[in-house]
Amino acid sequence: MPDGTRIIPPPIAMLAELTHRCPLSCPYCSNPLDLAQRESELSAEEWSEIFRQAAALGVLQVHLSGGEPASRRDLEVIVAAARGAGLYANLITSGIGLTADRIAALVTAGVDHVQLSVQGTTPATADRVGGYRGGFARKMAAAEALAAAGVALTLNAVMHRHNLGELPEVFDLAERLGARRVEVACVQFQGWALENRAVLQPTREQVEEAKRLVAEARAQRRGRLVIDFVPPDYYADLPKACMGGWGSTGLNIAPDGSVLPCHAAQTIPGMRFANVKDTPLEEIWYRGPAFAAFRGTDWMPEPCRSCDRREVDFGGCRCQALAVLGDASAPDPVCRRTPGRARLDLLLAAEGNGPGLEAARWRRIGG
Ligand code: SF4
Ligand code: FES
Repeated sequence: MPDGTRIIPPPIAMLAELTHRCPLSCPYCSNPLDLAQRESELSAEEWSEIFRQAAALGVLQVHLSGGEPASRRDLEVIVAAARGAGLYANLITSGIGLTADRIAALVTAGVDHVQLSVQGTTPATADRVGGYRGGFARKMAAAEALAAAGVALTLNAVMHRHNLGELPEVFDLAERLGARRVEVACVQFQGWALENRAVLQPTREQVEEAKRLVAEARAQRRGRLVIDFVPPDYYADLPKACMGGWGSTGLNIAPDGSVLPCHAAQTIPGMRFANVKDTPLEEIWYRGPAFAAFRGTDWMPEPCRSCDRREVDFGGCRCQALAVLGDASAPDPVCRRTPGRARLDLLLAAEGNGPGLEAARWRRIGG
């Protein structure tokens, strides 16, 4: 649709944050510090209307996330509504709360795919990071039930200084659980993870070793396991196109119905977000001020404005620029072509060998 100067493509994917409630309290959580309370959550009927509008807008797939989406008793109703709107329904879950009966109900509702997160590969490490004793055993039971129900499974693992050494075991676990794909992402420092950056920041040696192990595993497990690896931003030389470019391919709906260009956009001072409860999704996507703020290249400062990568990475991540430089309109400080990189190098030098996990601030609703 024209915005006067360029064609804005429709979104392809939508992240639906059904709730911020979660039985786990991982310190690497990217949810905001000010977690949404249960009373503010959208109803299943409201989600159903959002899915209908999203499909009409062009969205093809919805990622049902949280918090822990299974914390909602009406998750099955929400999944059925997504499928009813013609969307591919991917459930991103910790597995806690997914009993065999619940999984059967989700299959009946039409869930297409499940991404199951693990915080480690043993009860000791996983339960410590997740802050939930017995959590690992419950995840394994959920994984078995998912396999028995024939649900397509991806294993998700967020890696940081305290579990990167378990990388080969993550690949083994994925195969043992019958996953065809494993998504290993190093912590993105937003929300609670940003609070815990010094605790979680991997060392450069760990990152190099992780890259080597990933390359080795890809060769050894070809045809059995697809390995997606997201290395830590801070050790890269050039940024990624966060969200594929602001307002270009995807959008997030917060538990209260606020529509966000990315999951951390609420950290940007002064940015106002429309709510699907009172504004049509199409209006928000094509004409909402939050989506227009950093869309395309017109907003860019130098050196991005005259850089040959400006339509490759779109200046990187706005929320990372804010978190590190205090300015969401600055180039991503990961970029070595920009002056902000010096600040990131200082941070890495200071935090690359920071305190132990006991110093972490565990995620909690209500602070
Ligand atoms: Fe990307 Fe800007 Fe760096 Fe160029 S200068 S690579 S556009 S962040
Ligand atoms: Fe907000 Fe990257 S997380 S732009």
